[in-house]
Amino acid sequence: MLDKYDRDINYLRVSITDRCNLRCTYCRPKEGFSLKGHDDILRYEDILRVVSQAVKMGFIKVRLTGGEPLVRRGFVEFAAALKKIQGLQDISLTTNGALLDKFAEGIFNAGITRINISLDSLDEKKYFQVTGGGNIDDVLRGIAAAEKAGFAPIKINTVVLKGFNDDEVLNFVDLARKKPFQIRFIEIMPISEVNINQPQEFLAADQLLNIIGRHFQLEPVNGKKHKSDGPARIFKVKGGRGEIGIINSVSHHFCATCNRMRLTADGKLRVCLLKEEEVDLKEALNSHCSDEELAGLIRRAILLKPERHDMDCTDRHLKKCYRDMSDIGG
Ligand code: GTP
Ligand code: 5AD
Ligand code: SF4
Repeated sequence: MLDKYDRDINYLRVSITDRCNLRCTYCRPKEGFSLKGHDDILRYEDILRVVSQAVKMGFIKVRLTGGEPLVRRGFVEFAAALKKIQGLQDISLTTNGALLDKFAEGIFNAGITRINISLDSLDEKKYFQVTGGGNIDDVLRGIAAAEKAGFAPIKINTVVLKGFNDDEVLNFVDLARKKPFQIRFIEIMPISEVNINQPQEFLAADQLLNIIGRHFQLEPVNGKKHKSDGPARIFKVKGGRGEIGIINSVSHHFCATCNRMRLTADGKLRVCLLKEEEVDLKEALNSHCSDEELAGLIRRAILLKPERHDMDCTDRHLKKCYRDMSDIGG
């Protein structure tokens, strides 16, 4: 379905929980964040109903996010049920990888074959620091398990933090040379209070490309492979097996080609990552609304989508969402 700006909205990011087993410094406050209770979040049956309706209205791609999706009980069975929805062409998962070793094979067998895994440092101590206590061996084992299970592509998400991991960028590119991964460098976005106070951490993607370009030959991979592809600009590392991706949401926004909406764990359709407009579905679902009513709410959300977000490099310390990133799902 087209929005007011003629964009085909066909990609739904579904956050299935706001809980997470890590505490990344730029994502969640150390304390004071609210965790929703069981009754506050959508039941799996409700999520399946929303996705089925969205697919009837032209959505073709779903990405499961969190918090950390793998901490919610029954995930693999839910994924298998999602896979049965006719017309849904693409189901993918964004995870921090900490539990992936245990789940990779089951998830793959349930029919999810595309996976994005967060990894902000290749150094054990820095990984521990940035994740608020995570063990890098868990995620490395998770990535290996994903490779063994057959996931393709495997994308690694690295949020670039100036003065923290920018000195590791070349090591990450080297990983993309050796392994068939797509390593995506993400500009940090000032989503909530945890990161608006740290504008000095921001490193613009063009600066990053300059640094990489001095050591590696990058060849742009032009055009989207699929019409529901996400926001990354992709480059092949010459002579290497993998690719790198640049996600420059702040310095060059990609809103003109935005194709997405988000369903939050508490049942709101959030029409733009960086804007507060939401349409509540939970109340309607709880009161057993008809399919027409549900379709009407989804349509209303699509028509509410703004033309673009209004954050840029200069005022990035000013922007503030009332939700944390872990509450939206990235
Ligand atoms: P694929 O292209 O399917 O791999 O998905 P993706 O890159 O959209 O998914 P992922 O969950 O890995 O998101 C990676 C990063 O992209 C997120 O951390 C955000 O920084 C950024 N991002 C994703 N969607 C949006 C969006 O709608 N707006 C903005 N500004 N940034 C986004
Ligand atoms: N800016 C950019 N990316 C972020 N992520 C979480 N918080 C932010 C932020 N403030 C990333 C995570 C994960 C993805 C879903 O979102 O690292 O890879
Ligand atoms: Fe779409 Fe909003 Fe993200 Fe821009 S910031 S790409 S409009 S969701």
